[in-house]
Amino acid sequence: MHSIQQYQEFVLEYLKAQHCVREPKNLYEPIHYILELGGKRMRPVLTLMSAEIFDSEYTKALPAALAVEVFHNFSLIHDDIMDDAPLRRGNVTVHEKWNINTGILSGDAMLILAYQYFEHYKPVIFRDLAKLFSKTALEVCEGQQWDVDFETRSDVTILEYLKMIEYKTAVLVAAALKMGAIVAQTSAENGDLIYDFGLNLGLAFQLQDDYLDAFGDPATFGKQVGGDIIENKKTYLYLKAIEFASSEEKNQLVQLFSVSLEDNTSKIEAVKTIFNTTGASKATQQAIQDYTLKAFATLDKMNISSDKKELLKAFGEKLMNRNV
Ligand code: IPE
Ligand code: IPE
Ligand code: MG
Ligand code: MG
Ligand code: MG
Repeated sequence: MHSIQQYQEFVLEYLKAQHCVREPKNLYEPIHYILELGGKRMRPVLTLMSAEIFDSEYTKALPAALAVEVFHNFSLIHDDIMDDAPLRRGNVTVHEKWNINTGILSGDAMLILAYQYFEHYKPVIFRDLAKLFSKTALEVCEGQQWDVDFETRSDVTILEYLKMIEYKTAVLVAAALKMGAIVAQTSAENGDLIYDFGLNLGLAFQLQDDYLDAFGDPATFGKQVGGDIIENKKTYLYLKAIEFASSEEKNQLVQLFSVSLEDNTSKIEAVKTIFNTTGASKATQQAIQDYTLKAFATLDKMNISSDKKELLKAFGEKLMNRNV
C-alpha cells in the first residue's frame, strides 16, 4: 500500500503522460484546462487504493482511475453550466472562459474519452467496468435532473434530497472504489462492501459540499460561496432550516428562495443567518459525521487487514475536515 499523497502523485503523473496536442483546439483545450486545474483527485485515488486493498497493483488500476476522473470533470463542466457557476477550483469556469456550446461539446467528448480508458482491459474486466460505469453515469444524470427540478419546488423532502445526492454524487464515489475491486478481480462480496463504504462516504461528502458552499472560506473553497443560495438549491441546510424554523423565519426563507436578484449579497447573508439560528448548520454537521461513521461501520464487515481499514478511515476523516 501507499500513502494518500503518493496515490495522488501517481494519478497526476499518469494524467500528465496522456497530454497530447489535438485539433480542433476549441474542443481539446477546455478538456486540458479543466483536467489540469487540479482538484482533490479523490475518486481516482480511491480506485487505486481499492485495487491495492484487494491485492492488485495500483498500476493496473490507472486507466480505470483516470476514466473516473475524466468523467467527473466532464460532469463538472456541464454542472457549472446548469448551476450558472462562475468559478471552479479558483479559476473561471469552462463555459465562461469559452462559451456554453464549447462546454457542452468538450464535456461530451470527455464522456467518450472516459470510456476509451476501459479498452486497456481484457474482456471480462472491460465488461464489468463498462457495465458499472454506464449504470453509474445514468444515475448521475438522474441525480442532476432532480437537483435542478428541486430548485423550483417548495415541497422537497429530506428523503428526496438524500436520494438526489446519492445519485448525483455518492454513486460515483462508490463506483470509483468498486472499479478498483473489479480490476483486482476480488470477490463480488468485497466489491459490494467497498461500494457500500463509498456510498455513505459520498453522502457525507456531498453534505459537506453543501455546507462549504454556504460557510466555506472564499479564499480556499475555489467556488463561488453562496452559489447554492443564489440558485435556490434545496440543500440539507435549507430543508433542515425549514423544518426547525419559527413560522416567521419560515416565511422569510420561503420568500428569499422564491426570487432571483441582481445583487445577492443581502440574500446570502440573511439565509446564512437563518441556517445558523434555526440549528440547520449544526444538524448538517451532525449528518456529515453520521454518514462518515456509517461508512466506517461497513469497514468492520470487511475481511481486510487493519492497516488497510485505517487508510480508508484516514481518507474519510480527511474529507470530513476539509475546507475545499
Ligand atoms: C465537486 O467534486 C462536485 C461534487 C460532487 C460536490 P470535488 O469536490 O471532488 O471536486 P474537485 O475535483 O476536488 O475539484
Ligand atoms: C455536483 O453537485 C454533482 C455533479 C457534478 C454531478 P454540485 O453542483 O453541488 O457540485 P459543485 O458544488 O458545483 O462542485
Ligand atoms: Mg454545481
Ligand atoms: Mg449542481
Ligand atoms: Mg456544491
